Amino acid sequence: MHFLPYSLALSCMLSLVTESLAIPTPSPATPVSIPLVRRRPKRNNTDEWLQLQRDAVVAKYGIGKSAQQKRASGYNLLGNQDGDASFYGSIAVGTPPVGYNVILDTGSSDLWLAGSSALSDTTSGISTFNPNTSSTFKDLQTSFQITYGSGAAQGFLGTDVVQMAGLKVDAQTFAVATAVTEDLLNSPVSGLMGLAFETIASSGATPFWQTVATNGGLDQPLMAFQLTRFTNDTQARDLEPGGTFNLGAVNTSLFTGDIDFQDIPGGQGTYWIQELTGLSANGASVELPAGAASYAAIDTGTTLVIGPTDGIAALYAQIPGSQALTGQNEGYYAYPCNANINVTLRFGQSTISWPISDDDFVLQQRGNICIGSFIAVDTSAGSQVPPWIVGDVFLKNVYSVFRATPPSVGFAKLSAAAIAQNGADGPAPSPTVGSVVSTVASVETEGVRSSKPNGAVKVRAAWSWAAVGAAVLLGSCVL
Ligand SMILES: *[C@@H]1O[C@H](CO)[C@@H](O)[C@H](O)[C@H]1NC(C)=O
Ligand SMILES: *[C@@H]1O[C@H](CO)[C@@H](O)[C@H](O)[C@H]1NC(C)=O
Ligand SMILES: *[C@@H]1O[C@H](CO)[C@@H](O)[C@H](O)[C@H]1NC(C)=O
Ligand SMILES: *[C@@H]1O[C@H](CO)[C@@H](O)[C@H](O)[C@H]1NC(C)=O
Ligand SMILES: *[C@@H]1O[C@H](CO)[C@@H](O)[C@H](O)[C@H]1NC(C)=O
Repeated sequence: MHFLPYSLALSCMLSLVTESLAIPTPSPATPVSIPLVRRRPKRNNTDEWLQLQRDAVVAKYGIGKSAQQKRASGYNLLGNQDGDASFYGSIAVGTPPVGYNVILDTGSSDLWLAGSSALSDTTSGISTFNPNTSSTFKDLQTSFQITYGSGAAQGFLGTDVVQMAGLKVDAQTFAVATAVTEDLLNSPVSGLMGLAFETIASSGATPFWQTVATNGGLDQPLMAFQLTRFTNDTQARDLEPGGTFNLGAVNTSLFTGDIDFQDIPGGQGTYWIQELTGLSANGASVELPAGAASYAAIDTGTTLVIGPTDGIAALYAQIPGSQALTGQNEGYYAYPCNANINVTLRFGQSTISWPISDDDFVLQQRGNICIGSFIAVDTSAGSQVPPWIVGDVFLKNVYSVFRATPPSVGFAKLSAAAIAQNGADGPAPSPTVGSVVSTVASVETEGVRSSKPNGAVKVRAAWSWAAVGAAVLLGSCVL
């Protein structure tokens, strides 16, 4: 029996800003790590669940034909709150500092927290940010509005002291949401921290990680993830340990061998882009176009792997008995579960093909029909969005490193110690206010660009849990 990956439909903004990435300078601060928690999805074997997975990505990257159409499609991102969180860590904000859980998302660049007035009773249990209780909060008098797949959130931008993993920024710009769609946030997550580059921040603000890297607040200008796998763990609970996020240094006990760094094409960060130069299924390679047509965003905030129609079709062509689903399940493929699928990815100039566990490749199992976690979605409608989006289905299989200078992404083999954390039930960490080892002044003294009221599309999806393995074929999922 396979269990399904959770997914989180995160935020994203597609700003057209094209300023250069400031070059961070290395400095001698102490690197620290914080525990991550992985929330298990409420999942089931229905078409609705599949559609939510796909639409979450569409919404996140603004690649749907229109927001109107997303709403009209009936994929209600509000209704499935229990399954929408993925890997989150904690930050502390304000004076005195208060801890909050936030999704750590390398696929977007904005930090936001729910304000006290944003949540209704049904979302109680979520910590909210109240500017009145922080003596250092400064209101930037800039309104903030984000359109969601099925609603809207609004608030304002401000600055305050933000701490994470022992690093502190004195005046970090972030958004305080004063109204969010009910069910948008799911306890214990209070917001999201974008970990991509400022060039795609809808707020225009420099992301926390980039501020500390730019001001030399980091030992090494990078951050790294080890993400745990519970998809095949029948005993998994709603909250499980999620692995480790490192900021400013890698954790050498979590990987073996070298980190295989590959440059971001063009040397300029927007998303954490890599060129996908190799793709294979069960040893048979799939032909990929060279250049931008094979660019991929490496995204901790997306569950699945998204690819262009041709590339995904070519991949499943290597899997005997596979078949494209149609209608509402368009983009997905089904295949017989009796085959173990070994898909590998290769990036840039690397000679290494990274395999993905069959456990991760299986997104749903309906009797002996499996549905794969690589799906076809046309991303061309989104500004700056690459054709491939490589999410946690892949990232759970490697140690991943996001390096600012030179702009690059690196992967390494997980160590035995890291692999041993997969399926190892344990207590979920709660947000803590740790001690600060390094303080960095904000990069922004001029204030931020005004927020773009309707330029951002942010969605968070969730789905309901149901028993897995019933031999029920729904809709077009028939081979
Ligand atoms: C590195 O990972 C090991 C194994 O999970 C953990 O025990 C240790 O605390 C981590 N250290 C840092 C600095 O991340
Ligand atoms: C903050 O204080 C102001 C002025 O006293 C008050 O109007 C507002 O409701 C307070 N906000 C919250 C979230 O408590
Ligand atoms: C999950 O799969 C891994 C290998 O991918 C295996 O080591 C582990 O035992 C599996 N866990 C369960 C509960 O089946
Ligand atoms: C998957 O394929 C890669 C490359 O062909 C190979 O190195 C790896 O051992 C395979 N893994 C499994 C589990 O078959
Ligand atoms: C399955 O999950 C979807 C998405 O969360 C939800 O809309 C649907 O009601 C669920 N169905 C069942 C039978 O639980």
